[in-house]
Amino acid sequence: MSLKENLEKFARIDLLKTITMMDKLENLSHYLGRDVYIKRDDLTPLAMGGNKLRKLEYLITDALQKKAKVIVTAGAIQSNHVRQTAAIAAKYGLKCVALLENPIQNHDSNFMNNGNKLLTELFNTQCVICDELTDPNMQMKELVDQSNLEDAYIIPVGGSNALGSLGYVRCALEIAEQRPKDVEFAAVIVASGSAGTHAGLAIGLHATLPQTPVIGVTVSRVTAEQEPKVNQLQQEISSLLGQTTCPDVLLWDNYFAPMYGMPNKKGSDAITLLAQKEGILLDPVYTGKAMAGLIDNVLNNTIESRKPLLFVHTGGAPALFSYSGIDAVIN
Ligand SMILES: Cc1ncc(COP(=O)(O)O)c(C=O)c1O
Repeated sequence: MSLKENLEKFARIDLLKTITMMDKLENLSHYLGRDVYIKRDDLTPLAMGGNKLRKLEYLITDALQKKAKVIVTAGAIQSNHVRQTAAIAAKYGLKCVALLENPIQNHDSNFMNNGNKLLTELFNTQCVICDELTDPNMQMKELVDQSNLEDAYIIPVGGSNALGSLGYVRCALEIAEQRPKDVEFAAVIVASGSAGTHAGLAIGLHATLPQTPVIGVTVSRVTAEQEPKVNQLQQEISSLLGQTTCPDVLLWDNYFAPMYGMPNKKGSDAITLLAQKEGILLDPVYTGKAMAGLIDNVLNNTIESRKPLLFVHTGGAPALFSYSGIDAVIN
């Protein structure tokens, strides 16, 4: 049975209705002297878009099948994942409770109230602030117990379990079908955080375009910590889909400093470049840093092949409004 047929066995609410656009970034390609394409997963249809909707197609279906009444999830105060989960919960008439941490300990009013947080509350999600998400799954279970939440369905941070990651296996199949016939990508580049997007894409491309590796640009961890996380998830996705082999995990980890959620100079420069060359909005936490990795590696010629690159734009622009007062801290 093909990967596609296996994938079709998993029930999914079709939130996307159609595939997201793939486009060539003509001005950036000209500027870098290298062809760069973009997959516009920032334009998924609900709540200002982003990568989580693909995962939530599977996760919310599972929640509804299990007759859940409450969705519980967790993330940072400016979490895109929480914002998208809140929107879908609203759409399906489910209560949503979000456990939120402040990873950069910034109490600027925009950071605390604007951007994703403003939208999450607009969707009527109950936000519970905690000091730190040290063991989010455990903390969410405690919250369910302490608040006597009945029929609760817990969605892990980033929606990154094997079921949610199927959304990015599907995205990989979409990429393989959508790719211009005369184009072979040297690599697909994507932000790698809770790892479901990276691992799902890697499993899907391994089966459909095995010559095209996925490179994850880490947003919160060094390679030694992120690699086992992606690997583990790849194994879980493969066993869910009955696949036998997993690709090697490729990571660039020198673009997230000083820490998760804190902007840096290269990321901010990438945001400015894409805005001014292409009219496309990246974000300070994920896609700005991932694009900084792409630009840096093209300019330093570290990618052997001269073939085009594909950047998967995973969204996040609502955070721009909450980071407006926070300076980039390092070069
Ligand atoms: C805009 C954006 N890009 C990338 C990611 C990383 O995706 P993942 O958590 O699946 O690694 C996230 C996760 O929250 C995100 O919000």
